[in-house]
Amino acid sequence: MLLKDKVCIITGGAVNVGRAFCEQLLKNGAFIAIFDLDSDIGELCCAELKQQFGKNRIIFCHCDVTDFTQFEESFQMTKDTFGKIDILVNNAEISNDKFWELETDVNLNGFIRGSLLAYRFMSKDKGNEGGTIVNIGSSCSVKPFISSPIYCATKHAIVGLTKAYGNDYHYNLTGVRVICYCVGPTESDFSSHSRQNNNTPNHERARNIDMQGIRYQKLDHVAKELITVLLNASSGSLWIVRNDEKPSEFPFSNELF
Ligand SMILES: NC(=O)c1ccc[n+]([C@@H]2O[C@H](COP(=O)([O-])OP(=O)(O)OC[C@H]3O[C@@H](n4cnc5c(N)ncnc54)[C@H](O)[C@@H]3O)[C@@H](O)[C@H]2O)c1
Repeated sequence: MLLKDKVCIITGGAVNVGRAFCEQLLKNGAFIAIFDLDSDIGELCCAELKQQFGKNRIIFCHCDVTDFTQFEESFQMTKDTFGKIDILVNNAEISNDKFWELETDVNLNGFIRGSLLAYRFMSKDKGNEGGTIVNIGSSCSVKPFISSPIYCATKHAIVGLTKAYGNDYHYNLTGVRVICYCVGPTESDFSSHSRQNNNTPNHERARNIDMQGIRYQKLDHVAKELITVLLNASSGSLWIVRNDEKPSEFPFSNELF
């Protein structure tokens, strides 16, 4: 799969990991649509990327992934602008168990809304050309994160979403590949949302246990390796990138029961 001229949507693409994905996809010749709730930062990011990569390759869509209609309109705007959609990166998140219903609505339901729309706009059985959905997970997609159990649950849940939709049954029907790319701790300006939880001694203790031995990897590494995974991963596969190392495929079996 070549990325040149592919049309990619990145939810939560205005900052940090999402923005780094946008930059790498643009470097590889893709067109991108940044979907983000934060219009100020999103518009700024879009303007800066236009300066660097040319004004016709990028759009910003104000989009709250908890709002199906807004999400749908943003998909339509992307298709109207670029003529097609090839890749959806479900990336937007919040990380704060105090607001667990919103957290679940963004981190899980937001990925489900994105997936349903991606099928509508990319599926071969709906007259399109197929494509790829990348669900962005975390190291806590596959291990417990005791300081944020609900965040951890949302990140586990998207593994199930990936495995089931990524199965050959769906892939053969739709031509849409589904991949989960799990990001380990990464140097980014994410301390603000992470710290919102740190308001009780118990939570602080749990967080200290979670963070033991953690090494933050570079944003640029995470984004470059997304490209490697996009070029090589099979549907239903789960990849982990941590400690600035090459991504490794997580060995799940489909045959346990
Ligand atoms: N940064 C890390 O260390 C790290 C570690 C593990 C996993 N990840 C994963 O990487 C992805 C991005 O993480 P990050 O650290 O860049 O997050 P972040 O909080 O820095 O950025 C999240 C983005 O999502 C947007 N967003 C939030 N709610 C939204 C909504 N309702 N609709 C649309 N956009 C919304 C925000 O405006 C922001 O631009 C997440 O899926 C996260 O799980 C990051």
